[in-house]
Amino acid sequence: MDPIRNPYAPGAGQRPPELAGRDEQLAAFEVVLERVAKGRPERSLVLTGLRGVGKTVLLNALRGAAVRKGWGTGKLEARPGQGLRRPLSSALHQAVRELGHRDEESLDHVLGVVKSFAQRDAGSGAKIRDQWSPGIDAPAVRGRADSGDIEIDLVELFTDLGGLAADVGKGVGVFIDEMQDLGADDVSALCAACHELSQSGLPVIVVGAGLPHLPAVLSASKSYSERLFRYQRIDRLSREAADRALEAPAAEEDAAYEPDALAAMYDATGGYPYFIQAYGKAVWDLAPRSPITAADVAVAAPEAESELAVGFFGSRYERATPGERDYLMAMADVAVEQDEADGDAVLSSDVAARLGKKPQSLSPARDSLLKKGLVYSGERGRIAFTVPHFGRYLRERG
Ligand SMILES: Nc1ncnc2c1ncn2[C@@H]1O[C@H](COP(=O)(O)OP(=O)(O)O)[C@@H](O)[C@H]1O
Ligand SMILES: [Mg+2]
Repeated sequence: MDPIRNPYAPGAGQRPPELAGRDEQLAAFEVVLERVAKGRPERSLVLTGLRGVGKTVLLNALRGAAVRKGWGTGKLEARPGQGLRRPLSSALHQAVRELGHRDEESLDHVLGVVKSFAQRDAGSGAKIRDQWSPGIDAPAVRGRADSGDIEIDLVELFTDLGGLAADVGKGVGVFIDEMQDLGADDVSALCAACHELSQSGLPVIVVGAGLPHLPAVLSASKSYSERLFRYQRIDRLSREAADRALEAPAAEEDAAYEPDALAAMYDATGGYPYFIQAYGKAVWDLAPRSPITAADVAVAAPEAESELAVGFFGSRYERATPGERDYLMAMADVAVEQDEADGDAVLSSDVAARLGKKPQSLSPARDSLLKKGLVYSGERGRIAFTVPHFGRYLRERG
């Protein structure tokens, strides 16, 4: 069929033509927005799940919902080893602009606080040229959000920001993707600041997304984090939602699927959103005409799989060193031997046994894989792939 009209969108963070199966989260978030804007106590959402299930696009959709309500919003993606100050100040700069507060003096004050928060990054004795500022014209407000203690500074920053938003009857939403990659101090300060905000009823919320162990990261940092955030596990789509993700965009282009074709698609994709987009794209390009048949799906499967092998699996596999690849392969083998469902966690002691090594001698490989985000540990002593079907990919690769 006409590749120019192909509606599907495989790729990290690519907005899908139809955001299927996420109505529950979108509805819950509408309630959060309304309650927070009214100063009512409310837990914010944190989305967790494997790679490719659609956390980033859902986070963007939640941000869109906040923007439609007139909120000020900003987004950042956490990176290992990077401090929170710079990316957060850029995000908040954006949020303040979006809020569109009329009074210039209040606006300049808050922007000045964002600036002083950002400039503290270089240390108090830093020369002007080493100071970084997020392109804010207003003068920095000395003595506010620049103590150097990130927790104190965040509370001051959010308090001033919340005051500004409350003035106009709106709120501020800070959206943090890959939240598990925040440094320990930053996580702890962020939880403390959210805790403080929830008590003062100021309309600022932090909405996060990250890998499945993110709740463990947060609760290891602050025991009360469960009361701050409502964790929403984002997972593969139900059969119905997966069908909708394929059919709705096709219908827009006057194309359709035969029922057998939809069943074959679900079989192949397991309902994982990334796989649905990749298969949808390949099948569309190779099918001679609408309606798309099960035979078309069979013909296109190798093309879809080779796209995934490069774009989804391969790009991650490339990041691992030879020693780390042995570790990953052993994880896949252990899972198969123990008849675990694809994606289930295995014991790291079993992985070590499989490789005939002592667990301690493998901890550097394991730690590095954790840092690279290829595996995660939701429970002590256990380890799992962050990428769905990764074990299968490794075994087929051989
Ligand atoms: N609800 C959904 N329905 C259909 N496709 C989706 C959905 N959510 C995500 N996708 C698609 O899945 C892919 C991965 O989405 P992304 O948000 O990057 O996942 P994650 O952040 O969890 O790794 C993208 O190609 C996106 O278009
Ligand atoms: Mg993502």
